[in-house]
Parts: sequence; C-alpha cells; structure tokens
Amino acid sequence: MKILILGSAAGGGFPQWNCNCRNCDGIRKGTLNARARTQSSIAVSSNGTDWVLINASPDVLAQIGANPVLQPARASRDTGIAAVMLMDAQIDHVTGLLMLREKSGPLPLYCTEPVWEDLTTGLPLAKVLSHYCGVERHVIDAPMAYDGGRTKQGVEVPGVEGIRFVPLALKSKAPPYSPHRNNPQPGDNLGLLIENTTTGKKLFYAPGLGEIEPHIEAVMRDADCVLVDGTLWTEDEMITLGMSKKKSSDMGHLPQTGRGGMIEVLDGIGARRKILIHINNTNPILDEDSAERAELVRHGIEIAWDGMEITL
Ligand code: MLT
Ligand code: MN
Ligand code: ZN
Repeated sequence: MKILILGSAAGGGFPQWNCNCRNCDGIRKGTLNARARTQSSIAVSSNGTDWVLINASPDVLAQIGANPVLQPARASRDTGIAAVMLMDAQIDHVTGLLMLREKSGPLPLYCTEPVWEDLTTGLPLAKVLSHYCGVERHVIDAPMAYDGGRTKQGVEVPGVEGIRFVPLALKSKAPPYSPHRNNPQPGDNLGLLIENTTTGKKLFYAPGLGEIEPHIEAVMRDADCVLVDGTLWTEDEMITLGMSKKKSSDMGHLPQTGRGGMIEVLDGIGARRKILIHINNTNPILDEDSAERAELVRHGIEIAWDGMEITL
C-alpha cells in the first residue's frame, strides 16, 4: 500500500498568500530554510494506478500536476482518482471537489451524514457539482469505538482493492458555515485507519485532532504509522502573533506543546512511525533550522512534506 502526501499544510498553505509571519515572509524572500507546502490531502493506492483521494484540497490541480501517477492516461479523458473520501467539510479539505467537475461520470464521494449536510447547505458544493459531473454518494458511518479489527469495521472502495478504510469519529470542530457548528455531531470530523488487508499494516490519518479520546489512543497504538494533526506549536500561537483571536483548541487542533500536547501523546504511544501533517504556516517547525524542529527530531517525530511517500 502506497500513501502519497499531496499536501502537508493547513488551510492557507505555506506560504499563505496574504501572510507576512516570519515563516511566510522568510520563504518568500529565500531567507528561511523551509519547503513550500500545499493544503492538506493524501492519496492511497494498492496498485499505484488507482487511488483514493483523501480530502480534495483547493490545491488539488497543482497536486495532480506534481504527481503524474494520479494521471494514468488510459483513455482520452481519464483519472487515477477512483474516489474521494472526506475527513470533514472544511474549506481546505473540500473545495477541490469543484476542480474535479470535468470528470466523466459521477465522482464517487465517501462522507458522513453531517459532512453531507454541510456540503448541501452551508457550503453547497454537492449541489453545484450536480450541474457538472455530479457525485455518487457513499455514506460512511463514524463509530466512536474501535474493535481492534475483529469485525471488519469500515469500507473498501471498488477499484482500489486490498485496502480497508476504517473511519472513526473524533472531537474537533465543524466548520464555521456548518448549520450544526455549535451542536457537534459524531462524524463532523474523522480519523481514518487505513489497512493493507494483505500485509495487515495500518496507517492512522487525522489531520484535525482536537482531543485524544480513548478509542483514538487505542487506534494510534494499533497503527504502524500515525499521520496526525501538526497544525500549531502552541495553544495561543495565533493570538500571540496577533493573527487571530482563536486558540488552537477553539479550532479543534491539539497543539504540539504543553501538558497533554501532541509531543506528549506521541511519546506515550510507543515505537512506531510518527508524522505530523496539516502544518499551519505560522508553526516554527516549518523552519528546518529551528529549535522546535530539533525538538521533534529528538522525539522521533517526522514532518510530512509534499511528495513524501509512505509504503506499508
Ligand atoms: C482548520 O483546519 O482549522 C483549517 O485549516 C481552517 C481553514 O481551512 O481555514
Ligand atoms: Mn484545516
Ligand atoms: Zn504565515
């Protein structure tokens, strides 16, 4: 099973078009040792030709361009994207759907009930797409329990054989335009266990992870590799920089530092591959020469980059 990191930045990307934080300014001027990053999305395949796109980022066209394996060119109009699966209804994870509107035939779309509600009301992309390719909707359930693989929870995607996707509900946030923003539903945000059914190897993917509930910790311990929320370094990062009034927890993201922060969580789950994704452009870990980056290295934590490949 191949996992391709198409985009590793949080909403806004890196650099963000209007941002002059130390990181964005530094990468633009060439004075910062850092890589540019597009908005978060991954693709998963067993045969290297047929892929499930997990989240459709506003940068999806650039990401397809940068990853020719997603374009196998078997017919005059063709794509290697067999289906799209959504982790939430956030702008940085869904607006790329509009860019896929030229698809021949309806786009297979896997999402939960609350995400579908958002995509037909607050951000009605599904309605808009019905005037183009349309979507073939597949409902996914988001249980709040993980049974350790005993009952074959989750779904397989036709055309992408040998991979099981196990969605799990987790606490983060529905987007600001969601009709149930202030009334959180299980299924607003997912973590996804992705299992190679041939080798039994598992990846846990959660680009938005606000709180480590017991079923999420269990799944992280069961995975061979975790690819999780790396949005912010500190709880008040955006406030300190004067860029937002929101704390990390207000946005549904667990910061890396502090008591119960992501570094502590990852230290606690034992030896396995640990990678941060969905990095906000203000996060000091983007600076490859920073003390914060060195601290992650000391904890055996990697940072995803666009083009990174994981094989499990
Ligand atoms: C988030 O996950 O909080 C987002 O990246 C916000 C956004 O897309 O603006
Ligand atoms: Mn986001
Ligand atoms: Zn910035």
